[in-house]
Amino acid sequence: MNILHGKTAAVTGAASGLGRAMALAFAHEGMNLALADVDEKGLEETARLAKSASWQRVDVSKAADVDAFAASLKEVHVVCNNAGVSPVGPLWENTTADWQWALGVNLWSVIHGVRAFVPRLVAQGEGHVVNTASVAGLISPPGMGVYNVTKHAVVALSESLHHDLRLQGSPVGVSVLCPAYVPTGISNSERNRPQELANPALSEHQKALKENLKKAVSSGKLTADDVARAVVAAIKENRFYILTHPRIKGAIQARMEDVLQERAPRNPLAL
Ligand SMILES: NC(=O)c1ccc[n+]([C@@H]2O[C@H](COP(=O)([O-])OP(=O)(O)OC[C@H]3O[C@@H](n4cnc5c(N)ncnc54)[C@H](O)[C@@H]3O)[C@@H](O)[C@H]2O)c1
Repeated sequence: MNILHGKTAAVTGAASGLGRAMALAFAHEGMNLALADVDEKGLEETARLAKSASWQRVDVSKAADVDAFAASLKEVHVVCNNAGVSPVGPLWENTTADWQWALGVNLWSVIHGVRAFVPRLVAQGEGHVVNTASVAGLISPPGMGVYNVTKHAVVALSESLHHDLRLQGSPVGVSVLCPAYVPTGISNSERNRPQELANPALSEHQKALKENLKKAVSSGKLTADDVARAVVAAIKENRFYILTHPRIKGAIQARMEDVLQERAPRNPLAL
């Protein structure tokens, strides 16, 4: 889609971080905005910054919420399935609540978004889907296995969606966003964790991993606005992979080489 002006973008996770930055970048392009999140105060603030936007409370892990969001929009052309959360922990310490929470927000959200929006984009013969994965969808850093599983699944889902659309001859585009660390609220995603999926307490391992994640996220050199500009460019150029942090490509290459050489995976954070 090379002309965005006057078109409508639906963005989830738009109350903070990358979602807010994408919304503002789309507003800068002259797009209409439909914003979704569980954080209504944050949505209100994004709408204020964008000057004009419609927004609604949507829990992206819930099919009915995403269906209602899609049904409420008169028009939609760009769909950003972006909301996400980041539990930590050595895998054997993660609870079923961790899995349900992260699979719900990071993966079911994208499944619902594709089911609710893509038939409409296909029927109108125009549109672009941006799924926010992570470099953790292309490599598997230690200490965040639950997150890695959700993000690898989002990459696989996006690649499959691309193939299915191409096979049908649809012009609808797909991009998968795979950033490394960007300073946002992601290391504090527990703030929006539903009470029914809460953990009694973090283990010592998890506390340490959470601190590391906080430091890594806050030290990210690219801003959310830089990432949002890369998303706008990818939509205009109809580019599939959005790898915002080129230095991480060495770790992706190492993983691919380890697979092809059939050797044990090297730690991507130690390369
Ligand atoms: N910041 C990074 O370093 C980084 C790196 C790679 C990928 N990502 C991905 O970017 C995406 C955006 O995260 P961010 O970094 O902007 O973090 P963020 O915490 O600033 O924003 C995430 C947003 O998702 C919302 N959210 C959480 N649960 C929700 C739910 N059930 N329904 C609807 N919205 C919900 C939050 O309220 C928040 O506004 C996520 O998918 C994340 O995994 C972030």
